[in-house]
Amino acid sequence: MNAAEQIRLENIAEAEYEIFALLKQRYSPRTFKKEPLKERHLKQLFEAVRWSASSNNLQPWRFIYAEKGSQAFNKIYNCLSDFNKSWTENAPVLLLTAYKEKTDEGKENFHALHDLGLCLGSMTVQAQYLGIALHHMAGVNWKKAEKEFNIPEGFHVSTAIAIGYYGGDLDDLPEDLQKQETAKRKRISQEEFVYKNEWN
Ligand SMILES: Cc1cc2nc3c(=O)[nH]c(=O)nc-3n(C[C@H](O)[C@H](O)[C@H](O)COP(=O)(O)O)c2cc1C
Repeated sequence: MNAAEQIRLENIAEAEYEIFALLKQRYSPRTFKKEPLKERHLKQLFEAVRWSASSNNLQPWRFIYAEKGSQAFNKIYNCLSDFNKSWTENAPVLLLTAYKEKTDEGKENFHALHDLGLCLGSMTVQAQYLGIALHHMAGVNWKKAEKEFNIPEGFHVSTAIAIGYYGGDLDDLPEDLQKQETAKRKRISQEEFVYKNEWN
């Protein structure tokens, strides 16, 4: 077993209650297998999005993806924060996520961001099923991204996502990030975020 496979096994969530295996196995790596993403797999990820629920079925999510080696990949990469630049270079695919801010009638769609997050949850589980990891990034200069990609008025860039197959080399990462890759995963307890009958 190589180091990457070992890390993957050790990163399995210590769930206090039994949950779906794919959810337990999911984590956000900063290193990916040096392998392009299969076209078919990308289509499957976006198909999972397609069948997600959304408020009034408005499907406000939009995406731009780019493969490593392309000009568009470099454009997305150049919009990332310095921290995210330090580990995303080897991702085979970078994705920008965006949402449509208004309904077709011009009313603000307050649930658009909710729906984007929800569809990305579906994409995450589909990805996990295919051995693909998503690493979401808030560290993206969305104003720059909107300009670089001529995002039309009424759409807002939310995050970037690094996508690739699990199983990357630890050696591809700077030392501090190698440590983070194997650090113990922490979560707050259910008592801290689930209330019954009243707040707290
Ligand atoms: C909306 C969102 C934004 C995030 N932004 C970043 C980011 O900019 N850079 C980064 O390295 N990780 C980022 N993460 C990853 C989180 O740090 C990670 O999901 C969290 O620490 C839990 O780890 P796990 O996904 O491995 O369980 C982001 C995650 C989400 C959902």
